[in-house]
Amino acid sequence: MNDKLTALIDKLNDEKRLTPGEWVCLFTEFTDEEREYAAKIARELSIKKYGKKIYVRGIVEFSNYCKNDCIYCGIRRSNRNAQRYRLTDDEICECCDEGYDLGYRTFVLQSGEDPAYTAERIAEIVRRIKARHPDCAVTLSLGEKEREEYLIMKQAGADRYLLRHETADKEHYSKLHPPEMSFEHRMNCLKTLKELGFQTGAGLMVGSPYQTAECLAKDLEFLGSFKPHMIGIGPFLPQKDTPFGDKPKGSYHLTLFLLSLCRIMLPNVLLPATTALGTIDPRGREQGILAGANVIMPNISPVAVRKKYMLYDNKICTEDSSDDCRFCLQARARSVGYDIEVTRGDYFD
Ligand code: 5AD
Ligand code: FES
Repeated sequence: MNDKLTALIDKLNDEKRLTPGEWVCLFTEFTDEEREYAAKIARELSIKKYGKKIYVRGIVEFSNYCKNDCIYCGIRRSNRNAQRYRLTDDEICECCDEGYDLGYRTFVLQSGEDPAYTAERIAEIVRRIKARHPDCAVTLSLGEKEREEYLIMKQAGADRYLLRHETADKEHYSKLHPPEMSFEHRMNCLKTLKELGFQTGAGLMVGSPYQTAECLAKDLEFLGSFKPHMIGIGPFLPQKDTPFGDKPKGSYHLTLFLLSLCRIMLPNVLLPATTALGTIDPRGREQGILAGANVIMPNISPVAVRKKYMLYDNKICTEDSSDDCRFCLQARARSVGYDIEVTRGDYFD
């Protein structure tokens, strides 16, 4: 065990922050031993806060049209090979009904940045879901919008919003996104979402092209000061029809380590074991739980469209039905001594 590194992990646990140099030291020098040391602390914090329970959020990927052109993403507008689809409002509501019958009490509506779904249209969908299932939370993940649009959706009853910041380093941001996308605008969206009262999720890909340890230090600093209610972290995985199709995937172990460090820094945070983590390793989500994650987001999209929402290659669960995922997750959680929890699972301090 490297005493300098374990001392840094202990310091993070005590003081909830590190200097940029200390973060870099952790990211560049850790081995399995320090990763497991952090995982144990993280797991204990998660159990103290949430018990041995994994919150589930059914995710409906309702459109893969996107007006953006993020270099890493399989549904970027330049990808002519993507087969585009949109679900109707009825279909989206039906997915949630099915999710409700499976016990889910949070629905995540996610799509590319698709102008066909205006704020008013989303608001109407949210009202419909809330009318049918008043005991459920609705989370939106629709990308960057204007304040007025977020407000309309909030007033319709949306509870939460996921918008990964992707990277807290402006230079790095510009290497992952086309020139018309702005780092400042994305960060401002996150601020706005929090101000409007959404439980807000930020997050990043681990090992995205051009990411350095210094970039990750900025990510952790940003997360520590912004204090999102949720943090989505998964490895970068190449998608063959994007310009990053030949780039190496992110590190599985570094992803697990980052999950633990986020849990230690923000003990109350809602932290999913992401689909990308389950894709990079068959036991990735279980290992994510053991590293301090406490949320899983099963897919409840119609099976007919699942293969089309290919942000990256080889995405899991694209041939499974919503029922399959429900029982698969239960078994996975139980295999590491946890159980799935079917309440809304709100953030609390
Ligand atoms: N690999 C891993 N994650 C990706 N995302 C998009 N493309 C990829 C990829 N190639 C993530 C982004 C986005 C979320 C919905 O999916 O972080 O915010
Ligand atoms: Fe979908 Fe396992 S969670 S098949």
